[in-house]
Amino acid sequence: QTGYTALDYGFVNTASTKSEITYIDGEAGILRHRGYPIEQLAANSSFLEVAWLLIYGELPTADELGEFDEKIRRHTLLHEDLKRFFSALPSGAHPMAVLSSATSALSTYYSDQSDPDNPDHVDMNIIRLLAKLPVIAAYAHKTANGQAFLYPDNSLGYVENFLRLNFGVMSEPYEINPVMAKALERLLILHEDHEQNASTSTVRLVASTGANQFASVSAGIQALSGPLHGGANEAVLRMLGQIRDSGESVARFVERVKNKEDGVKLMGFGHRVYKNYDPRAKIVKASADEVLEALGVNDPLLDMAKELEEIALSDEYFQSRNLYPNVDFYTGVIYKAMGFPTSVFTVLFAIGRLPGWLAQWREQNLDRQGKIGRPQQLYVGPAERDYPAK
Ligand code: SDX
Repeated sequence: QTGYTALDYGFVNTASTKSEITYIDGEAGILRHRGYPIEQLAANSSFLEVAWLLIYGELPTADELGEFDEKIRRHTLLHEDLKRFFSALPSGAHPMAVLSSATSALSTYYSDQSDPDNPDHVDMNIIRLLAKLPVIAAYAHKTANGQAFLYPDNSLGYVENFLRLNFGVMSEPYEINPVMAKALERLLILHEDHEQNASTSTVRLVASTGANQFASVSAGIQALSGPLHGGANEAVLRMLGQIRDSGESVARFVERVKNKEDGVKLMGFGHRVYKNYDPRAKIVKASADEVLEALGVNDPLLDMAKELEEIALSDEYFQSRNLYPNVDFYTGVIYKAMGFPTSVFTVLFAIGRLPGWLAQWREQNLDRQGKIGRPQQLYVGPAERDYPAK
């Protein structure tokens, strides 16, 4: 090894991706989709309206949104053969692995309708993935808890249908809780896109090879599953539970984080771009109390999370490293209050992020012109040397 790092060579990664979809200012804690601030979209829009905005660039007219919604409702059914796919997997399979595998399997039903250079195929597969991924996600959840699958109900809205597929059972009607539906819709909106994060960059790199949307989304799901990325929402709940079960004080845990004992991190804190409070985390935190109260849930883990945040934000270790809560810090407490198992939390992140992946795939594909992605490397290995003479 030469012992040098990229920084020693003054290496600056100039290979940045151009995009018109999402703008982030990490210092100021700003997030906008096609120019609209996330705070306004989360407060006033719907998941499918933001999805259309991300994918096609402008807010849809009422007719465009109505047609989009109707097409999605009418494509929620999975091929009956695909339902057997789930029974081939062990019941303890992680729902993110199920989601990615089933998404890849989904592509086999449309292989003759997935030409990335055919705009009708591209638009139709946007509809198919938006319609079917929530169904696959719900079936991954049902597989995990050994319950029978329900069929989608086209009379329900996007989020309501998803809730019913997750929590409804064959033996009785499922009553939609409007508070839960509204809260989940807002959380999904907050996840829809986030510029060139690891999973979206994965989707774009796969898209640049000419692979179809199913392949790209399946790869994106796997990238998202890592605990440093989307898997953090599940890791936060595990962290809070471990603190509670160990009887250790929150302050003592924070000391262990600062001392980097056993590589422990404050999950749900820190960000590659935000060196300020993640604007999404602000919105999630503000709604956590309201949602838990409305659901009649009193979870001491929420109080513990708030205590953790308070201690961390007043501590020089976190301040000097610009470590603030990110989108994953409070979401898990709300998902838990809704009744989702921890293993499904990152699946919810994937359902939220799907429109962004589809928008970024489409933008990459439109700009492709045969340009395959190839991240730059700076070689810092050994200089040339001869093979030893025998
Ligand atoms: C998401 O990119 C996106 O946009 C992602 C996302 C999206 O919407 O797609 O926003 C979603 O992935 C949010 C992030 C979720 N991940 C976590 O919450 C996992 C915990 N966070 C960290 O692992 C970390 O903060 C990262 C990976 C998120 C960001 O790491 P960075 O920017 O590469 O920072 P770093 O690892 O270089 O850390 C800088 C310093 C180090 O200390 P020193 O070596 O200087 O002493 O900060 C420390 C780190 O040890 N540090 C932490 C910490 N995060 C960074 N210390 C304790 N706890 C943490 N969480």
